[in-house]
Amino acid sequence: MPLKFKDRVAIVTGAARGIGKAIALTLVREGARVALIDVEKERLEVLKEEIEKKGGQVIAVSCDITKSSEVKAMVNQVLRIFGRVDILVNNAGIIRRGTIETVTEEDWDKVIEVNLKGTFNCCKAVVETMKNQRYGKIVNVSSIAGKMGDITSAPGYGSSKAGMDALAKTLARQLAPYGINVNAVSPHAIETEMSAQWSEERRREIIASIPLGRLGKPEDVAEAVLFLVSNQASFITGEILDVNGGALMD
Ligand SMILES: NC(=O)c1ccc[n+]([C@@H]2O[C@H](COP(=O)([O-])OP(=O)(O)OC[C@H]3O[C@@H](n4cnc5c(N)ncnc54)[C@H](O)[C@@H]3O)[C@@H](O)[C@H]2O)c1
Repeated sequence: MPLKFKDRVAIVTGAARGIGKAIALTLVREGARVALIDVEKERLEVLKEEIEKKGGQVIAVSCDITKSSEVKAMVNQVLRIFGRVDILVNNAGIIRRGTIETVTEEDWDKVIEVNLKGTFNCCKAVVETMKNQRYGKIVNVSSIAGKMGDITSAPGYGSSKAGMDALAKTLARQLAPYGINVNAVSPHAIETEMSAQWSEERRREIIASIPLGRLGKPEDVAEAVLFLVSNQASFITGEILDVNGGALMD
């Protein structure tokens, strides 16, 4: 099988674990050179070694996406080493639990800062390069909570994800003339450390509400991202693609 992404360079944020790790491994499997971005330096290094042992080409960059200076330096490093940036996957994210009464202003700010502003910082840092290349694929890893709200996560989480959806649509319009596609995936109930906080009872309730009758795997999201960044999806932009086992059909 030819490697469809062998000339492509991708940046994946939040790549140290969970969905981001699965996205990075999937892109490497398809031949892409991948910049693994996270604040968790040690895990990143372990993943980098794991990939390099199998012959994949990756770099690991410790970067806090909320800091625009760190993000710019990270993109410059990717350009110095790999020479281009074709794909940006904005996956890094955090969640807080609670209600409008219990959530603190600090928690609200932190969730919006990482999920929404961090995504904005990364998009802003790659746009010039992608425009010059007249080629780019950006995918935001959003959440079902951005479309329908959520009962257990604090209000900032769904709000940040709805913001990521609107950001994807806005950039899809603004960047379409330059050959840049901007989309989002909207997962629900994926088995990662983020969702490991659920009680057994909550887990059973969630599975019961999913027509396909199971939780999602990080690889389920990764394959959807792979499709959106592939040339098979070249006529798709501004799409928020559900990856939720049928829990929401919109
Ligand atoms: N797990 C789910 O059920 C689920 C469902 C819907 C959406 N999502 C979304 O998918 C994405 C990945 O989720 P996951 O379950 O793999 O989460 P996770 O908590 O396992 O991984 C998130 C990664 O992001 C990194 N990160 C956090 N803040 C960062 C920052 N400021 N800069 C750089 N990296 C940072 C973390 O270190 C971590 O490695 C998130 O955006 C999440 O909101 C997850």
